[in-house]
This record gives sequence, C-alpha cells and structure tokens, in this order.
Amino acid sequence: MRSDDFTISGIVQDFYPRVGLVLGSGLGGFTQRVEVAARVPYRDLALPQSGVPGHDGEMVLGTVGGTRVAILSGRVHLYEGRGAREATAGVRLLGQLGVRQLILTNAAGTLNDSFRPGEWMMLTDHLNLTGESPLTGGPQFVDLSEVYSLALRARFLAGAAAQGLRLHAGVYAGLRGPQYETPAEIRMLRALGADAGGMSTVLEAIQARALGMEVAAFSCLTNWAAGMAGPLSHQEVVEVGAEAAGALADLLEDGLRAR
Ligand code: HPA
Repeated sequence: MRSDDFTISGIVQDFYPRVGLVLGSGLGGFTQRVEVAARVPYRDLALPQSGVPGHDGEMVLGTVGGTRVAILSGRVHLYEGRGAREATAGVRLLGQLGVRQLILTNAAGTLNDSFRPGEWMMLTDHLNLTGESPLTGGPQFVDLSEVYSLALRARFLAGAAAQGLRLHAGVYAGLRGPQYETPAEIRMLRALGADAGGMSTVLEAIQARALGMEVAAFSCLTNWAAGMAGPLSHQEVVEVGAEAAGALADLLEDGLRAR
C-alpha cells in the first residue's frame, strides 16, 4: 500500500470475501440479492464518495448463493475531479480483503448498430482513452493481454444462454467525460473498434489485473451513442439501467451460486 492510499476499518477486516463487485449508475439494486452481513458507508472506510445521483457510496458485505461477496455500490470518476488512484482505491481495498475475482458493471452508450439500448454487453477488451493509469509510479509494464478473463467470459456466456439472456460481447471505450461525446468522436471510436463507450471501469480493471485478480465486466447499454439517435440525458441512462439491472442480477446470482 502506498502512502496516498486508504486504510481498512476493523468492521470489514475479518470477512474474507472471495468475489468483489462494483455497481455502476442505476445498478445498485443488485444488493437486494445479497444476504447482508454488513453495510459500511464509504466514509467509514475512508473511500472517496461520489456526488453523482445513482452512485450511493457503501460497501455491502454478505453472501450470494453461498459465495462471500464484497460489493462496492457507487464509484468515483475522473470527471468529478478525482485522480486515477482515487478512482481505484475501492479495488485496492477489495484486494486487501482477499478478493480474487472482480466483477465490474457500468452504464454505457452503444456504438454498435446490432447492440440495442436496454441490452447488456460483456467486455472482451477495452480502449483506455482517459489518458490516466492507476499504475503511474508503479508497478510498471503490467501485461494486459487478457484483462477480461476468458474463463469467466465463457462461464457467463454459457449462463446467459441457459437463461435466455441476450448478452453481447464487445470492446468498451473508457473515456474521461464528464460531457457525452460528439457525433464525430463516436465515428472515431467506431473506427477504432469500440462497441460501447462510458466513463468508468477501465482504470479499475487495470488496477485489478495489476493485483492479479480475474476480471469480468458488463456494460448496461443505456442509450445510442451521440449522433446515432436523439439527444442524451443522464436521467435516461439511470432509468434504462434500473430497468435492465434485473436481467444481469439473475446472471450474476447464478454465476456466484455455481462456485
Ligand atoms: N457515453 C459515455 N458514457 C455513457 C454513455 C454515453 O453515451 N451512456 C452512459 N454512460
């Protein structure tokens, strides 16, 4: 741990979660699937708190399908003026608690004509376009050949097929925000091979890989990206996320039970 980092409070120290989850905009409802052992506000963990509606900041410890989980409900973003280290403090805390597998969720705009708003995309890879890294200052040269675990992807794809859930797979562009993109930027991102775009996840995934965690990540496709349909609104993003959240919750619950 570095000196700019945050400390573990005694409340969570003895729980030993196996799986960590980070819930994005409007997706906090998954905590209702948890047999809760403790709820700890971020302020008691000295984790940074988001001011964005739909991102309440608490860690939920408990079990899902018999698996011990630690859920970070709410995250901070670069666009709030936070640094890459702050945006990934929660992931390092999960690492200190012993988490070996991390599931990240986010809301994203879809850039792929065949991936519709309201549907889910599992990340196969990402473009980190934030200009930031949580690893600045070390460790250096971490291998990112397989950020999103092939084994976990295979497991979740099989689970989605069994549940009849339409789960796309594609590349996520991690952007800095806070503004949504221009149509020209979206055309650029499509040309670069992105299927979805959002303002989170990539730094957390990089941090998790540096800690040796296996990572899976899911984008709730909340809207067509700029220039592909009408204007964008944060309210729509949160509402579509809340509506689609149940389908992913089923998949995650099932995946956690299989362990
Ligand atoms: N762009 C960037 N971030 C987002 C979007 C989008 O269209 N939708 C939800 N988060």
